[in-house]
Amino acid sequence: MSRFPLRVAVLISGRGSNLQALIAAQRAAPGRFEIVLAASNRVGAAGLRHAEDAGIATLALDPAAHGSRADYDRLLFERIAVHTPDLIVLAGFMRILDPGVLIAWQGKMINIHPSLLPKYAGLHTHRRALEAGDTQHGASVHFVSAELDGGPLIAQVDLLVAPDDTPERLASRLLPLEHALLCASVELFADQRVALDAQGVRVDGKTLQAPMQWDGTRRAWMHGA
Ligand code: GRF
Repeated sequence: MSRFPLRVAVLISGRGSNLQALIAAQRAAPGRFEIVLAASNRVGAAGLRHAEDAGIATLALDPAAHGSRADYDRLLFERIAVHTPDLIVLAGFMRILDPGVLIAWQGKMINIHPSLLPKYAGLHTHRRALEAGDTQHGASVHFVSAELDGGPLIAQVDLLVAPDDTPERLASRLLPLEHALLCASVELFADQRVALDAQGVRVDGKTLQAPMQWDGTRRAWMHGA
């Protein structure tokens, strides 16, 4: 059962710019959602500092010090559960999770991925899109399932590939769109508009036939959603 504000835990592995964007969104609309924890599998993750600066609880747990993948994931999610999140957001969390922990969080854990899934699950998405000659690239938010970057899609944002794009340039042009997409997606949860059931992803009570589209220029959902 969700509460107001929605309690959100954010998992990161590195720089944490998506976390930073969520912190800014929380500040811009207080009372809608509250980041109750920022957790990382890298002890020195730079992004944790954004959380500390914002007075948010942090947790850094080194996998090397905690046995098998299943043991580590169990411990990590036990420690996360103490903060009673309604939603867990994987934002640049570079780790495949043990299926054992996913069951308890089904429908309550989302991931942001820098490609138009189902294209380019995994790493090096920008380079792979350029190598394929794609004219469109983008980012996706999806529910987390046991399949890497393969869970049900909630929302996407796209951008046109420019002739002079390099993987780095494409990544940096996409990043602000990712931030906006992720914040808007978390706000869908905060407003209790989205859920996962046996039919798929439901938004406002209707099963999605295709992911919601974020309009990066208008900074709004397309088709009036
Ligand atoms: C983002 O591009 C995210 O989509 C990907 O890793 C990057 C993380 O960036 N999975 P940051 O740590 O949020 O700055």
